[in-house]
Amino acid sequence: MKVDDILNSSPLLDGLPPHSVEIVREACPVWTFESGEAIFRKGDPGEALYIVLSGEVRIFRESLEGRPKVLAYVHPGDVFGEMSLVEERPRSASAVAETATEVLVLFRDTYFNLLRRFPLLGHNLARIIAGRLREMNDELLFLTFEEAKSKVAFALLKLYRHQHGRSHNGGWYIPIVHQEIANLAGTSRETATRVVHELRSKGILETRQGGVLIRDLKALEQVLYGLV
Ligand code: CMP
Repeated sequence: MKVDDILNSSPLLDGLPPHSVEIVREACPVWTFESGEAIFRKGDPGEALYIVLSGEVRIFRESLEGRPKVLAYVHPGDVFGEMSLVEERPRSASAVAETATEVLVLFRDTYFNLLRRFPLLGHNLARIIAGRLREMNDELLFLTFEEAKSKVAFALLKLYRHQHGRSHNGGWYIPIVHQEIANLAGTSRETATRVVHELRSKGILETRQGGVLIRDLKALEQVLYGLV
């Protein structure tokens, strides 16, 4: 996809006049990162937000014992790094290029200049942040109160919603090991494995080397709400 098409599809530029895309593109440098390269680390000073142009970025934090917890995967058109830009505080999480990645970098000064011309930009950013809060509220509820099956379903459905993985044979393949599922679902590895096997026996998931294939999305949503 061309840069202009990606910017047009980005929620940050939603509803802005067509010429704004060119103005944003000309005002912002493009940075490239290799697969596995850190874009920033939690605690770094943050002077810019990023719009993904190509590739995939993993946003994560680490527990006190150093166990990583993925917060999100971001894809072309998505925005990350907006919290430090707005709050003028250090990065709240780390970002690593999951594959070779290109991002458009919107520095704070540029952001304020653009905001004067296109006030809707600020509202769009507020919507992006509100969407994250909404998602986090769901996550908090599911991961705090629900049983292990719902937690695992929530983790897999979140990865699907973030389009992490790829469609395969009419299902959705997610490259993930059981320990990672456990980290996302807030369960032990043994529990995550038990649930995956149970969902496999019901035909909802298939396990493949290095990942799981969601065979039946609707049924997985029913698992989420305790209906299966
Ligand atoms: P910032 O704090 O500047 O740097 C880390 C970024 O990760 C943050 O801005 C957000 O863009 C992103 N981020 C932090 N927490 C989450 C989350 N729970 N879900 C999705 N993205 C997040």
